[in-house]
Amino acid sequence: MSAPPVNEIVTRSREETEKVGERLGRGAVAGDVLALWGELGSGKTTLVRGIARGLGLPQGEVTSPTFVIVHEHEEGRLPLFHVDLYRLGPDETASTGWDEGIAAGAVTAIEWPDRVAGSLPADRLDIRLDHAGGDERRIRIEPTGPRGSALAERAS
Ligand SMILES: Nc1ncnc2c1ncn2[C@@H]1O[C@H](COP(=O)(O)OP(=O)(O)O)[C@@H](O)[C@H]1O
Ligand SMILES: [Mg+2]
Repeated sequence: MSAPPVNEIVTRSREETEKVGERLGRGAVAGDVLALWGELGSGKTTLVRGIARGLGLPQGEVTSPTFVIVHEHEEGRLPLFHVDLYRLGPDETASTGWDEGIAAGAVTAIEWPDRVAGSLPADRLDIRLDHAGGDERRIRIEPTGPRGSALAERAS
C-alpha cells in the first residue's frame, strides 16, 4: 500500500493559520474529526478559530484553554465541538465525555489528542503543527481514512 498523502503548508502569521483553518471549516461535513497535534503555542487554538470562521460562527467565539474540556458552539452551519485535552489526567479519559460529539452531527476539533491517542476515531484528519522559527508554523495535513481524505481535498 502506498503511504497516505501529506499536504504541507508553512504559514507566517496567525492570520495565515486562521485562513488554513477557515478552509477546513468551510469544507467540513457532519461527523468530521480533526486531531490537532503540536506543542504549546504551535497554533492549534488559532487553527480552531479559523475552523469556526469557516463554519460561520461569530468572531471571538473560540477561546484558549479553560478548565472546560469540551466547548460546544451551536451558532454555525454545523455544531463545532472544540475539545482541549491539555488538562486531562491519565485516569480521566472514561469520565469526561469528551467524545460525545463525534457520533453526532458535529465537527470535532481536538487539541492535545495524544492524551487519548488510543481512543481517537480511526478515520480522521490529523493536523501536525510545528514551530518553524519566529512566526513560521509548519502545518502538515494527514488523512487517516476516506473521510479525512475527502475533507483534506475539499479544503485544498
Ligand atoms: N504562523 C502562526 N500561526 C499561528 N499562530 C502564530 C503564528 N505566528 C505567531 N503565532 C502566535 O502563536 C500563538 C499560537 O497560540 P495558540 O493558537 O493558542 O497555540 P496552541 O493552541 O497550539 O497552544 C499565538 O500567540 C499566535 O499569535
Ligand atoms: Mg490551545
